Amino acid sequence: MLALRCALRGRSKIEMSGIGTFILSITLPTSSQGWNTTLRNAWLCLRWFVPATAFAVQGVTAVGQLSTGDHLAEPGFWPTQSQPSREDFAGTDACSRCHASKTTTQIETPMARNLVPAAAAEILHSHRSLTFSIGGFDYQIDTGTNQAEYSVTNGNQRISYPLGWAFGTGRVAQSYLFRKEDGSFYEARISYFSSLKALNFTPWRAVSSPSGVQEAMYRPVGEAELERCFSCHSTASSAGGRFDEKHLIPGVTCEACHGPGLNHIKAMDAGIGSRPKTSNLEIFNPDGLLPSDSVDFCGACHGTFWDTKLSGTKGVSTTRSAPYRLVTSKCWGNGDPRLTCTACHDPHKQLETDAKAYDAVCRSCHVTSPGEKTTIRHPGAACPKATSNCTSCHMTKTFIPEMHANFTDHRIRVVKPGEVFPE
Ligand code: HEC
Ligand code: HEC
Ligand code: HEC
Ligand code: HEC
Ligand code: HEC
Ligand code: HEC
Ligand code: HEC
Repeated sequence: MLALRCALRGRSKIEMSGIGTFILSITLPTSSQGWNTTLRNAWLCLRWFVPATAFAVQGVTAVGQLSTGDHLAEPGFWPTQSQPSREDFAGTDACSRCHASKTTTQIETPMARNLVPAAAAEILHSHRSLTFSIGGFDYQIDTGTNQAEYSVTNGNQRISYPLGWAFGTGRVAQSYLFRKEDGSFYEARISYFSSLKALNFTPWRAVSSPSGVQEAMYRPVGEAELERCFSCHSTASSAGGRFDEKHLIPGVTCEACHGPGLNHIKAMDAGIGSRPKTSNLEIFNPDGLLPSDSVDFCGACHGTFWDTKLSGTKGVSTTRSAPYRLVTSKCWGNGDPRLTCTACHDPHKQLETDAKAYDAVCRSCHVTSPGEKTTIRHPGAACPKATSNCTSCHMTKTFIPEMHANFTDHRIRVVKPGEVFPE
């Protein structure tokens, strides 16, 4: 009898006995968060022994998914990873020499354009004086040619700082980070919201009775959090484990998803790319990932199933994490390449907003005429209501109050009128 014990990570312990028979013996933790961790750890151990798609544990959702921390701990490239050296990055211009068609469209996407120095933020230049008042505090952002000045006053005291970075294209919102004279970073307590065309509290950062102008104005952002913000919103922001503000590339550009590209370019210039059957092109291609890893790949920034679970996010706010919602859809099953993020979205292009354009993805699994039998290739039933624009009814827009905006619910389902939001 083969007996393997895996208790390397956390509190979980799994014993495997027999060939092909797995007996799960899990030490039960007390809190529900602990329970989530245990299930995840159990899977972490198991995935070394069985292919992700071939294993299903009753009652466990999102079989095969990992947290971003766990992916980063594995060998190889993963988005948001700190790279050994900044010198290994080539920059988007270098890629455009040989991948012009992907580059022309990618540089215009919100992902690529989501981070700019605040003094260059279009939103601030088109609203040169923004104000917001609450609880006896007056907030203001005044934008001039070379500077965006952020100030707060309670009538007696006024503090002001030039804003450093503007995060977000403002599809939904734009938030601001700045440095104080102590050299540390701070996040403005207020953000710009496109739906309101005005300032309001930064999501989840509202304070009801601040102790003074300082607390009303900003929140300190520690080194570790700072690295996380920039790792999701920019490229090459940290090298050798250190945040490097001077050399970061603003926005999610080629090398944020494909890893540092200098060695690839050297190899391609040496003609290796044209040789048949070259397996190592010295660059990461996410195309080869298993479906479960493929959604986790986008989840490195968009929040994987476990990132969302472990963060304790609840209710409608979970809609901000497309990977979390998608893998808990019945359609997902244990993972299917026909339903990964890239089945519907090309990360090198603008978001498609015509619902019809997504129909082919649904039809790749769902039969179309009522009464038609499902098959192994088409396991999904036909819709009794409609034959097109599937996402408009089954992937509804959900309002997240803190964001003052709608997000697309990636939990594909029959949405019942008046239902309690399914978490
Ligand atoms: C000198 C030309 C050249 C430059 C510059 C270049 N590439 Fe490539 N790249 C190639 C060739 C040739 C291939 C192999 C054929 C193909 O897939 O187009 C390739 C393939 C790739 C692949 C697929 C790899 C695989 O395993 O299938 C990715 C991803 C990629 N390049 C990204 C980049 C990025 C990112 C940059 C900029 C850092 C870049 N390339 C710069 C020529 C180049
Ligand atoms: C390095 C971090 C990162 C990774 C990896 C990443 N994204 Fe994003 N993505 C972002 C950020 C940041 C935004 C917000 C852009 C903005 O400010 O509007 C975004 C926005 C988007 C949008 C919305 C675009 C719009 O028009 O509003 C889509 C769609 C998207 N990402 C899809 C993907 C897919 C698919 C993948 C995986 C192939 C992926 N992302 C991987 C960071 C990332
Ligand atoms: C784990 C990766 C991650 C981290 C860390 C992160 N973000 Fe984001 N952020 C995203 C992604 C992905 C989006 C797009 C989807 C969404 O709006 O939830 C986004 C959206 C935003 C938006 C709204 C942009 C729009 O679509 O209009 C703002 C503003 C923003 N982030 C600011 C910040 C700031 C400031 C920090 C740090 C204090 C931060 N983010 C940390 C990944 C991240
Ligand atoms: C948000 C993540 C993301 C960004 C940013 C990104 N890519 Fe990709 N790229 C992917 C994914 C995922 C795939 C595999 C699936 C696909 O083909 O869309 C891919 C595939 C590729 C391929 C292989 C194409 C093929 O047909 O196999 C090339 C070449 C490439 N990307 C180049 C680039 C270049 C150049 C840039 C910058 C201009 C870039 N990518 C930016 C995620 C990204
Ligand atoms: C079955 C198709 C489908 C799949 C699979 C899918 N999406 Fe989407 N996604 C959509 C549709 C439809 C929209 C809404 C487009 C619009 O605004 O009209 C959308 C919108 C988005 C947006 C914009 C913000 C929002 O909430 O409206 C982001 C970000 C996004 N998707 C990320 C992802 C990521 C990450 C994955 C993988 C986990 C993914 N999507 C998988 C269909 C899909
Ligand atoms: C990878 C294959 C696959 C894809 C792609 C797919 N589905 Fe499904 N879907 C299924 C399967 C299988 C079921 C049945 C699950 C069950 O009954 O347990 C299902 C169930 C459903 C249900 C019923 C869910 C419920 O709550 O009972 C709806 C609605 C649905 N799909 C709509 C869609 C739409 C709309 C799309 C495109 C945006 C889509 N599906 C894409 C495989 C898929
Ligand atoms: C106008 C809104 C609308 C559109 C568009 C729509 N559906 Fe539906 N769909 C519904 C409603 C409502 C139900 C629930 C019907 C019921 O329970 O009687 C449903 C049910 C379903 C079911 C469950 C069927 C079952 O037997 O359990 C599936 C699967 C489905 N739709 C898939 C799709 C696909 C695929 C498309 C696109 C080809 C689509 N729907 C387009 C409204 C829509």
